[in-house]
Amino acid sequence: MKNIAVIGAGTMGNGIAHVFAQHEFKVTLIDVSGSQLDKAIKTIGNNLDRQVAKGSLNEEQKTRTLSNIVTRQTIAEGVAHADLVVEAATENLDLKKEIFRQVNEAAPAASILASNTSSISITTIAACTSRPEKVIGMHFMNPVPVMKLVEVINGYSTDANTTATIVELSRALGKVPCVVNDYPGFIANRILMPMINEAIFSLYEGVAGVEDIDTIFKLGMAHPMGPLQLADFIGLDVCLSILQVLQQGFGNPRYAPCPLLVNMVNAGFKGVKTGEGFYKYTAGSKDLVVSERFR
Ligand code: CAA
Repeated sequence: MKNIAVIGAGTMGNGIAHVFAQHEFKVTLIDVSGSQLDKAIKTIGNNLDRQVAKGSLNEEQKTRTLSNIVTRQTIAEGVAHADLVVEAATENLDLKKEIFRQVNEAAPAASILASNTSSISITTIAACTSRPEKVIGMHFMNPVPVMKLVEVINGYSTDANTTATIVELSRALGKVPCVVNDYPGFIANRILMPMINEAIFSLYEGVAGVEDIDTIFKLGMAHPMGPLQLADFIGLDVCLSILQVLQQGFGNPRYAPCPLLVNMVNAGFKGVKTGEGFYKYTAGSKDLVVSERFR
């Protein structure tokens, strides 16, 4: 494996490109939007600067990492020489199906096609291709350069060679792979999202306030972020869509999203990305300020 194509230059896509490039892979970062690609390269540069400032990387490694990344605006051009394609586009099933159809046409027959999806069925995506045995989930966690886990998801038809290759590759990136099977939410989000949903229900029912709920998890369970801050960090729209996948996939009302979460998403309060969720975010400030609505 040498040439990696990453589709989608958002938060996850730029993090995935960063990590592969830092480990000497040749990365093609693909997005329809030129301005999104420019933004992604800038973000990677800034995150590499943090690593240089911390002494975990030197200037020469930073320059080499950036020189390992090229950008393209079409899938056909971007995946033509890829040994592995990692799709990190928006969490929308129809969009992913269309991307995988195009990738299947344009990528070399031997290449592996992975999705960074947080909850969409790998089996369903794989069925849009003529190589379902080479389709797999490669679920990185945000922030990708920091988080050690890769949740490797076997679709119904994924073969053992594909899994072994992705496990080995994840280790080559300095990550720890955990292999799971393709059922709604896989493992990470099947367990994380009900916890976040329960935290939102606790707030909605007036059991406790935002700060107390989060502090209980930070100090009581040694979580780096409480569940409400983590929900803001992940994106409340993403949390909602994963809960809907769980609710639909299992047909079980226990996954029904809290009405407060639904209202916040519908009103455009999606967490860090929109500047407000349970907390209010100000560019350049690291202070954690509870949103006025919850004070
Ligand atoms: N790139 C590179 N380095 C980064 C970075 C990035 N994007 N973001 C943070 N860092 C580094 C910092 O430079 C710092 O490095 P040192 O440890 O060497 O000092 C370190 O990470 C910690 O960062 P900060 O000091 O800025 O801030 P912090 O101590 O508050 O930690 C955090 C920030 C790492 C995000 C921490 O709060 C954390 O671990 N939060 C939980 C994150 C989490 O649970 N992620 C998973 C979400 S679920 C998901 O992604 C999957 C899904 O499907 C929904």
